[in-house]
Amino acid sequence: NWSMASFVESKVKQIKETVGSKKVLCALSGGVDSSVAAVITHKAVGKQLTCIFVDHGLLRKNEGDQVEKIFKKQFDMNFIRVNAQNRFLTKLEGVSDPEKKRKIIGEEFIRVFEEEANKLGKMDFLIQGTIYPDVVESGTKTSATIKSHHNVGGLPKDIQFKLIEPLRELFKDEVRAVGEKLGIPHDLVWRQPFPGPGLAIRVLGEVTEKKLAVTREADAIFREEIANAGLSEKIWQYFACLPNIKSVGVMGDSRTYCHTIALRAVTSSDAMTSEWAKIPYEVLDKVANRIVNEVPGVNRVVYDITSKPPATIEWE
Ligand code: XMP
Repeated sequence: NWSMASFVESKVKQIKETVGSKKVLCALSGGVDSSVAAVITHKAVGKQLTCIFVDHGLLRKNEGDQVEKIFKKQFDMNFIRVNAQNRFLTKLEGVSDPEKKRKIIGEEFIRVFEEEANKLGKMDFLIQGTIYPDVVESGTKTSATIKSHHNVGGLPKDIQFKLIEPLRELFKDEVRAVGEKLGIPHDLVWRQPFPGPGLAIRVLGEVTEKKLAVTREADAIFREEIANAGLSEKIWQYFACLPNIKSVGVMGDSRTYCHTIALRAVTSSDAMTSEWAKIPYEVLDKVANRIVNEVPGVNRVVYDITSKPPATIEWE
């Protein structure tokens, strides 16, 4: 695509001129926007860029390893993965209110990021994956709260960076086209949106390592079967969550009393409204069977058939 190629070329030139011989920092989440912003900057300034990836332990199955593989191995970037799982879990102990969980995760994210950044000495620029719709929406209350956990603008005032926002003029589909152009793997470029607080808001109520593991395994099965059915790019978001309920079941001769997994899948164009996805029964059947057979501690699977509004996409 000609226009994307020329966008990349002129952006790379512009970033080079802005940065000169200075140092650049990026908070990489593994999402589409921050990934594309990082790769285009890397193309411009190479090892002058350092990316920090905070693994809060609330990611989906294998996600942290995939992100590391892409940026460290494939692109050979200065890439720091901070394994902060225990810190986040400890902070979340005993907390069941969704907004409190978000706030704790957001604050801890900034603290961890800041600690790592301080170890690197003086950095001059900070890369952000802001895209055009964010620019337009900024100031509206929802976008401010929804994005609060990743809003590095919340960093303490004593760290001074100049911001570089290479994707400010682009819509999401253009960001994806640029990502493909830059050689970022297709799966990442077309990744479904994933909330910053991650699985912490998909485990309803108090988050524990055990509940995270159950949710992560069930979610991996759901995603695998959606991919097998060729539906990955037809559905806006699809995931497993763990309502805080146990129910009675039967296995062999004995009664079980275990977790329920809820499957959520929606079609949408902007996440403001959504319809539940009409996934074929055979696919749902296969997913449910696999989850109860393969994930210990689950004896029931339900499918969420509410639209937004009145329900939201996430359960918390
Ligand atoms: P809801 O659940 O409000 O979600 O219908 C709308 C979109 O926003 C995502 N979402 C979040 N994203 N931090 C994020 O980065 C959050 O705290 C958060 N909560 C919801 C949700 O996945 C959906 O795409």
